[in-house]
Amino acid sequence: MSTTDPLPISEAFERAIAPDIRKTGLSPDFWYPLARARNLKPGRVLGVSFAGEPIALYRTRDGQVHALEDRCAHRQVPLSTGVVKDDCLQCGYHGWVYDHGGACVNVPYLDKGRTLPNGVRGYPCREAYGLVFVFTGDAAQPGFGEFPQVHTFGNPAYRTRVLDRRVACHYSFMHENLMDMNHQFLHRRLMGRIRTVFLELRCAPGSVEIDYTFERVGGRQPLGEKLMIGRRRHAPEPGVSGRRDLMRIRTGYPYQTLQFWTAGSDAPALDLWNVYVPEDRAQRVNHTFGMMNVRKPGIPGLIHLLWPFIIWFTEGIFAEDRWIVELEQKAFDDQGGDRNNEIFPVIRALREVLVSQGVAIDSAS
Ligand code: FES
Ligand SMILES: [Fe+2]
Repeated sequence: MSTTDPLPISEAFERAIAPDIRKTGLSPDFWYPLARARNLKPGRVLGVSFAGEPIALYRTRDGQVHALEDRCAHRQVPLSTGVVKDDCLQCGYHGWVYDHGGACVNVPYLDKGRTLPNGVRGYPCREAYGLVFVFTGDAAQPGFGEFPQVHTFGNPAYRTRVLDRRVACHYSFMHENLMDMNHQFLHRRLMGRIRTVFLELRCAPGSVEIDYTFERVGGRQPLGEKLMIGRRRHAPEPGVSGRRDLMRIRTGYPYQTLQFWTAGSDAPALDLWNVYVPEDRAQRVNHTFGMMNVRKPGIPGLIHLLWPFIIWFTEGIFAEDRWIVELEQKAFDDQGGDRNNEIFPVIRALREVLVSQGVAIDSAS
């Protein structure tokens, strides 16, 4: 298939979604990281947000993490200004106390015999992969039972870098940026000249998965990439499996993964897991959380020597991606709508997934 062959996506659907994708909210019915675990110390509180919904994360002194609506039921001030008290969170103003489910369990000055007031909302909260995940949606939905699985995390054959950064764009630009490898031109200064070879697209409800390989058409393989994934091979004859480098990028809503295998290897050299969590109600700013799992070279300890170069290289790539997606958001804002002329069928398929799984932005929080 060439990169511009049409896919069986209805034109009516495309016409219907084209103006709206940047106004589509991320479904709340999944587990999302809202903070790095290391930023939430025992006995401390942290104010975060999901699509404009303020949430107070707190960690008890024995290490448990909890999430409550970030407003006191009394006078609506943020509970994230409060203090942790045993298993509870105490508002910093008049000292109302909430348990980890959000019930108000004490008002210090309440007359004896009077009923405690209503509390606030509590959210399911879990710590995993060095991140604090919160579920703000409907726990009856299937996403509640589908906690993300990242198999290379914690595998001693890999070293992990947790990704945590704010990017001023709608989450859909992030999915599109990573999935459309035709943008290697953007990275020409760091990567040299690469030709992207599209191999295969697989679509299912809620997911899009694409395979690529690459050909170097100019310059040398950059050192940072070579250290991270090994030496790239040229794409061989089509149909010769196992003898070419393979990059597989998947949006399995709402998460996104990228895996890279060097030719002939069963284990990925790179296994990336990302999610782009909207912070604001309009969802024009996302907090990108992720895990970059890099397979260690055979020589013990060598990964630690190489690590600064790998970080330098990946930060350079990310800086270019951030720059361009923020410009895309600015163009959308200036133009008042999505006027993209998207010709790559893979991205059109991705847009269908993001829109069909998303929610109206006003009800996203
Ligand atoms: S505002 Fe929180 S206790 Fe009064
Ligand atoms: Fe990129």
